[in-house]
Amino acid sequence: MAGRTVLIAGGAGGMGLATGLRLAADGERIVLADLPGQKLDDAVAKIAATGANAIGLPLDIRSVAACREVVEKAQEWGGSLDILINAAGVWLEGPAAEVREDQWDLVLDVNLKGAFFLISAAIPYLSQTQGVVINIASDAGIVGNNGAAIYCASKGGLVLLTKALALELAPQGIRVNAVCPGDTATPMVEYQAKTFGGDDPDGYKRRLLGHYPQGERARFIQAEEIASFIHYLCQPAAAPITGAALSIDFGVSAGY
Ligand SMILES: NC(=O)c1ccc[n+]([C@@H]2O[C@H](COP(=O)([O-])OP(=O)(O)OC[C@H]3O[C@@H](n4cnc5c(N)ncnc54)[C@H](O)[C@@H]3O)[C@@H](O)[C@H]2O)c1
Repeated sequence: MAGRTVLIAGGAGGMGLATGLRLAADGERIVLADLPGQKLDDAVAKIAATGANAIGLPLDIRSVAACREVVEKAQEWGGSLDILINAAGVWLEGPAAEVREDQWDLVLDVNLKGAFFLISAAIPYLSQTQGVVINIASDAGIVGNNGAAIYCASKGGLVLLTKALALELAPQGIRVNAVCPGDTATPMVEYQAKTFGGDDPDGYKRRLLGHYPQGERARFIQAEEIASFIHYLCQPAAAPITGAALSIDFGVSAGY
């Protein structure tokens, strides 16, 4: 299956880059789309350093026009579009009574609207390749996270968007799945701890792990563990898997 073109939105982030590296190791061609800046350039350089084919495309996923343009450019560069991975995301928590409209807009536009419009623009190309879409949702798309209503709304929306699109696109041979990670060691968790952990960011992280059934053995998931699973979902062996919201979360969403 080598030589497929993979577009990863949020490709310079923890999970996006780990996924790009994993797929690049198989000889896939990787397009990382993310906010413009050094982080994107560095991520592309990291993949290129392995000898793989990679480019970076600046993208603010909140813009529908920018989503369409990035899809066009990715498929022009690759000659096809085979895999679309939605890994862009922003975290927000705090009392619902204090939330501002611009915060709601940011979280919903990045986590939900952008993912939808990238998929929408990619459908004509993915139908030519019987392509694969993977949306990175969250355990917060399956169970409520106390104090993170907007983030949960965005990820819960992404899960059902995944299921509805899987049904709609199945006749064209396109598979659409969501992966739902638990807390994963990426810059997002560092941001959460720094921004919402007050004067005790380490305590914030300990509280996150305190939700897990492993107790003392709880640990953060590694981005590479998520990437391996995404890699599997992109293989022909995963052909029967579509419309699924797959938890990779040490059981944190299984109940209590
Ligand atoms: N880290 C976790 O614990 C965790 C758990 C469950 C789900 N998730 C989800 O996984 C996905 C990947 O997150 P991550 O953990 O790798 O975090 P990350 O912060 O490392 O990556 C997120 C990426 O999204 C990009 N992004 C943000 N706003 C954007 C915009 N307007 N346009 C384009 N790109 C934008 C960021 O620049 C960043 O590179 C996200 O959707 C996140 O919500 C993360």
